[in-house]
Amino acid sequence: MITEKIEQLLNDAAKKIGLSDSLTVSFSNMPKLCDFQCNDCFKLAKTAGLAPLELAEKIVANLEKDGDFYFEAVKPAFINIKLTDQGFEKLGQTILSSENCGLEKHKNGQRVILDYGGANIAKTLHVGHLRPAIIGEAIKRLYQQLGDSVISDVHLGDWGLQLGLTELQLFEDGVLDFYFGKSDKPAEITLEMLNEAYPKASTRSKVDDVFREKAEEWTLKIQKKEQPYFDIYKKIKDASVPKIKANYQALGAQFDEWYGESDSSDYVDEAIAIIEKKGLLHESDGAMVVDVATENENIPLPKADPQEPQRYKNPMPPAIIKKSNGAVLYATTDIATILMRNKLHNNPDRIEYITDQRQAMHFTQVFRVCKLSGISPENQQLLHIGHGTMNGKDGKPFKTREGGTLKLEDMINLLIEKAGEKLKSNGQEFDRDLALKIGVAAMKFGDLINNVGKDYVFDLDKFLSFEGKTGPYLQYTAVRINSILAKVENVKEGQFKVYSDDERDILRAAVRQLSSYEVCYKEKSLAALCASTFDLASAFSTFYNNHSVIGETDEEKKSSFVQLLKMVKKLLAQALHVLAIEVPEKM
Ligand code: ARG
Repeated sequence: MITEKIEQLLNDAAKKIGLSDSLTVSFSNMPKLCDFQCNDCFKLAKTAGLAPLELAEKIVANLEKDGDFYFEAVKPAFINIKLTDQGFEKLGQTILSSENCGLEKHKNGQRVILDYGGANIAKTLHVGHLRPAIIGEAIKRLYQQLGDSVISDVHLGDWGLQLGLTELQLFEDGVLDFYFGKSDKPAEITLEMLNEAYPKASTRSKVDDVFREKAEEWTLKIQKKEQPYFDIYKKIKDASVPKIKANYQALGAQFDEWYGESDSSDYVDEAIAIIEKKGLLHESDGAMVVDVATENENIPLPKADPQEPQRYKNPMPPAIIKKSNGAVLYATTDIATILMRNKLHNNPDRIEYITDQRQAMHFTQVFRVCKLSGISPENQQLLHIGHGTMNGKDGKPFKTREGGTLKLEDMINLLIEKAGEKLKSNGQEFDRDLALKIGVAAMKFGDLINNVGKDYVFDLDKFLSFEGKTGPYLQYTAVRINSILAKVENVKEGQFKVYSDDERDILRAAVRQLSSYEVCYKEKSLAALCASTFDLASAFSTFYNNHSVIGETDEEKKSSFVQLLKMVKKLLAQALHVLAIEVPEKM
């Protein structure tokens, strides 16, 4: 990258004057004055035995000549760096000619498993599943773009209490008579039945202890693969999964693996044996648990009587591995899944999870058990990326007008409907595919522009605007460039040249956009790429307002403009690919 090249030049000069410390370059926070700056002369002045400004001047005086940059030492002791037109033009060539617009892949790309779907079978997908799908898909693509090899796993929730509850409810509704030998007419289990059964059972279990306990027993029977419970379970899964797949497809979330919690069941005994062998497992109220609190998390409670045993206030409760009835829990399946992933994928370098941040404690417990027991090798990174909540305009978690949770499918339909209205108000015909692409882009950009950990307000009208910081604006910019390029297909390939500040501004935005990928990689958030891509698109709009590409009569200039458009197209396409936003044919 360009900043590294500048650093190299500065460091060579520093070496010449006997400095061994290395200098760093950042983007200028005064773009009117310069493009990059180095602020290190203050801190290095002492070692150099010079006043800070003197040091800056001396470094500049010792720089190797380079036609791509202007360097200037300025008061109080900065080195300001500007790209020359030759530098801008070279940058343009790099963007045009290199595969990733000059973005460099990491030399030691890592092997990563990314777990970000998390849909639960037998339950309806709801808006809570939007953020992990959107963020996860983009993070996956970002990692890939920078050289990691990533496997995405949906990790379906398919081994928990919701299954016992649903089966029991279906049983009581008479749907399962065939399986229990009470009827010889095999009954199909449909999605509609599940949509009804689970909410009914869930509500009932909160007030009816007998029902809940029975559902727990049934869950255990499923986990033990007892018949007919396990067969019914498989039918429930078959009825659920196609819908889950369709929902994720509409959102453009693509998973390499469609494992679920249940797939870890073959690894549960082995995982527990490993934990036990390490002496970590102990009984507590009939359940099997692992203490995971670290020392300073054990806050000693004052004793009323010195004879009392020391008790602790313990902010990190133990991880429950097996319930008193022998059933496994969410933590157990996650621990066994890590064992499974390590076996199937030969200890990946990182395993990362994207869920609501309210699951942070669960993952802390799981990760600690895996580290303490050695199920996760020391050099493997386990990471939970917790996202914030999508709120309604009232600042509270988003709900339907009736106060319920919005189904994911209804959300997707809402996106299509609203984007369709938008198209119509722009004088276009309703086109479902196009509306879906625009609606999903609006949703994704509206989400990803926020830092992953932060809550944001779902404001579809704002997200759908064709102007401003929105997904549709970026799509529109890309579509517009494509349509101009289609009209100038016959223009002779020529050199890219800088004619005005409008081009310089586009390239400045390009440098910032390219460097934002690394920022995102570090922050585990796409916010910086969203913002810098918007800036690039608006720099392009300014250029386009000031210049006519199609009408340009100077052939050389026209062909340079075409090169510039191709550059912006490439930069936009690369970013939109990472954000998993599709560019429509027309808009
Ligand atoms: N099924 C879970 C839920 O709906 C999310 C699963 C996330 N992944 C994991 N390995 N725990 O909350």
